[in-house]
Amino acid sequence: MQISVQAGDVLREPADLAVLVAYEGEPLPEAVAGLIEADDFRGRAKQQLLLYPRGAVPARRLLLLGIGKREGLAADAVRTAAALAAQKAQELQVSGFTIGLHGSAPLEPAVAGQAFAEGLELGGYRYLTYKSSLSKDQTFTVEQASLLIADGDPQPIRDGIARGQAIARGVALARDLGNGPGNDITPAKLGETALELGERYGFTTTVLDKAQLTEQGFGGILAVGKGSANEPRFIVMEHGQKAPGRPTICLVGKGITFDTGGISIKPAEKMDDMKMDMGGSAAVFGAMQAVGELKLPLHVVGIVCSAENMPSSTAYRPGDIVKTLSGKTIEVLNTDAEGRIVLADGLFYAQRYDPTAIVDLATLTGAIMVALGPHATGMMGTSQELADRLTRAGEASAERVWQLPLWDEYRDAMKSEIADLKNTGGRYGGAITAGGFLAAFVGDYPWAHLDIAGTAWVERPARPYQARGATGVGVRLLVELLGSYVQ
Ligand code: BES
Ligand code: MN
Ligand code: ZN
Repeated sequence: MQISVQAGDVLREPADLAVLVAYEGEPLPEAVAGLIEADDFRGRAKQQLLLYPRGAVPARRLLLLGIGKREGLAADAVRTAAALAAQKAQELQVSGFTIGLHGSAPLEPAVAGQAFAEGLELGGYRYLTYKSSLSKDQTFTVEQASLLIADGDPQPIRDGIARGQAIARGVALARDLGNGPGNDITPAKLGETALELGERYGFTTTVLDKAQLTEQGFGGILAVGKGSANEPRFIVMEHGQKAPGRPTICLVGKGITFDTGGISIKPAEKMDDMKMDMGGSAAVFGAMQAVGELKLPLHVVGIVCSAENMPSSTAYRPGDIVKTLSGKTIEVLNTDAEGRIVLADGLFYAQRYDPTAIVDLATLTGAIMVALGPHATGMMGTSQELADRLTRAGEASAERVWQLPLWDEYRDAMKSEIADLKNTGGRYGGAITAGGFLAAFVGDYPWAHLDIAGTAWVERPARPYQARGATGVGVRLLVELLGSYVQ
């Protein structure tokens, strides 16, 4: 979508659709107040009233769109309103619309511009890759939105819009990868995706195949991938390089392209959702694309541990002992606790960059869904400074994270009698014992683990800028986090 910002007033410009965004409990402009019964529109968040003004204003259609109270207005209210506006334009099949806010916004212009663009772009997201024929509704796309502002410098808003569009494209990539079926999005396909992104944004890219993984000792990823004809990959995308005074941030993603559970097989019900068990890696790809597009002045290393977890005569089994890249051994008690095993190799590998911070993202445990439901990503780690940064980034991006403890007891729960670690820690505190397991592979580096099992996909979208299926969670959060390292 082409998004522009100009001085103007939606009530004075001709348009197929004009959107007037209004605060709750504040008077509407006279020209509008005269068109409606006052009680019919109060500006409540997400309230919509479509009018056909018939000459009362120059626009052919006028959408009144509520954004809630001015006091305490959050960027997410802007993101939400923008998504609703884009969806209405889509529904009415108007290719362009004007939009303006009645009154000033108590937000930084760049922040508002970013949220506005994210809402417009994400509100129109649909996954149609596998539809062999499309209806007119489905092919129609809104091409243009122009934000009309009463006064002030449009430039910071434009800068925010450009940033929001880059982020939204990253989110769309993550959603596409997540929604893609397991017979398409294989470890090899993720490897190709990395090479394409590398080509486009100048990343230094490494994709290790099974033979190279064997040679180099990636025992965790190999064990999990052993049962599948779709061979595993280990993927590294490097943006920028190490330099004095420049932070190095490693992003590590779980990329299980399908998780059957392996020999410890899952029940059939909802197993199809496990095509999205690569949601952590999707976030890494989406964030890396945004980082490349925005040319962030940081050294960012995107790492993806990818395998397909299948039951077969070649699959790893309960009781197997696996030697990881670190040299540490894992007793496999449940082949369905595979995410932590592939991440063990990726987290250990990340240490070679002597990073300022390591952040991993993984659809790791059902237990985190029990703890937090779909409203927050679970967080554990070794650095309160990094955890606080992520908490702030979560608030700012509306991809909230909630910290859980990682006391020694949770790490101790993962010690094995016969190997260094075991891969399950019992029924209770399952999300945290998983974090305790991962901690064994990150050394002393500042590290945060994000369990996105509850947030990586949605059955029923809670926000208008979401769509059913993969959410692309993590992309907005990570770009916000990375922004905090750019002074
Ligand atoms: N990918 C799953 C976690 C998951 C479950 C994500 C449901 C989203 C929805 C993970 O690999 C897994 O199976 N974890 C097990 C671990 C257990 C065997 C210790 C779990 O959470 O049940
Ligand atoms: Mn599993
Ligand atoms: Zn899994």
